[in-house]
Amino acid sequence: MAEQQKRILLIIGGGIAAYKTPELVRGLRSSGFAVRPLLTAAAEQFVSPLSLASVAGDKVYQNLFDLNDEAEMGHIQLSRQADMIVVAPASADLLGKMAQGLANDLASATLLASNKPILVAPAMNVQMWHHPATVRNMAQLAQDGVHIMGPETGDMACGEYGLGRMSEPADIIAAIINLQNLEQTLQGKKILITAGPTHEPLDPVRYIANRSSGKQGYALAHAIAARGGDVHLISGPTNLTTTDLLANNVDIVQIETAQQMWDAVQAKLAETDLFDVAICTAAVADWRAQTIAPHKIKSEIKKGKKAAPTLELTANPDILAGLAAHKKRPSLLIGFAAETETITAHATDKRQRKQCDWMIANDVGDKSGARGGVIGGVMGSDMNCVQLISAAGCEQWQTMSKAEVASALADKIAEKITLNLADEIGGAL
Ligand code: CTP
Repeated sequence: MAEQQKRILLIIGGGIAAYKTPELVRGLRSSGFAVRPLLTAAAEQFVSPLSLASVAGDKVYQNLFDLNDEAEMGHIQLSRQADMIVVAPASADLLGKMAQGLANDLASATLLASNKPILVAPAMNVQMWHHPATVRNMAQLAQDGVHIMGPETGDMACGEYGLGRMSEPADIIAAIINLQNLEQTLQGKKILITAGPTHEPLDPVRYIANRSSGKQGYALAHAIAARGGDVHLISGPTNLTTTDLLANNVDIVQIETAQQMWDAVQAKLAETDLFDVAICTAAVADWRAQTIAPHKIKSEIKKGKKAAPTLELTANPDILAGLAAHKKRPSLLIGFAAETETITAHATDKRQRKQCDWMIANDVGDKSGARGGVIGGVMGSDMNCVQLISAAGCEQWQTMSKAEVASALADKIAEKITLNLADEIGGAL
């Protein structure tokens, strides 16, 4: 291994998500890390040591009581020789052992002997994730300073649906890079983020909504907290876990409607001296029902046919524009423009109209055309292709995962804050 390369000890727990680890290893290596895999006995059932050894270009460690291994590279050395330990997938069993301090196999003994930062990417059945024992274990691990990534919501190998899927390899790599770069470039900076969709009720059972998943906003909260930022997240309804954000001291307010989001933003502005940055990633509904029916709206039968009711809509507050006009306007105000055509022109116009400093334009149109070209490709996806539009013009970024976009944007924000500070100091001299 080259001296300057950062070294990751990748502990692979038993779970179907282990099949994604060769991709994780490959991605880590192409991001410049050296990777040493360590397999639990259960993990061997899901991924072959031989394929891992060939993608890692290193020996795969498996056994606590292998005389050769213990002589050459004991569990203590395995931890000492790494810059960071990543557990992916982190099974309920392995997380339980970590929380309890058990050490009855090579993986758990190495984790207990570790003096390095640890990142876990849990993966398990939804009921296992929500079980009080797992909830207790995760709280303990967060308290012990373990970094947590995911899990995500989705279909599971067991046929159930919910929280418990391991985060995608690209997102785990971005989290590792975040933790490696732990240069606290946003230390002490107050940052407000809006995320997710809003739900606008029509009656007690129906609402108007959109396809936003909240992933980009949550990824930003992660990336900024990892750089020491003091993050306040106002989130619409999403399926995303907050365990990892709460463990990183992110303050989260959950709301449903655009009006509630605006009220929560104003409350935060009132209770905080001044936000350095606000980032509006939320896909706020532009309209709500003029009146919310107190009871379920009934279908009317006219001339023997079901008639559709007429919905009277009214405009919602524009939170980004409201922040721009506020007496406590954050120094750096960033919007996200969701566009499906003439992306740059629309987003440039939106930046002017809403008076924000940067507008991040994303193309949310369905490029595949698989769904009639109407249903968004970016919304809900893990990937994003954005342009950064500022007074200086338009910067096209390459297609990246939302976690990578978040990391790059967090770095850009830190750079901008430093430049602004330098200008202020220069102006004062
Ligand atoms: N936004 C907001 N409040 C609203 C509408 C939008 O804060 N009521 C913010 C979004 O969070 C985003 C930016 O404005 O940062 C652009 O949102 P977008 O949905 O792309 O634009 P709209 O203003 O809704 O314009 P249009 O629907 O015409 O594209």
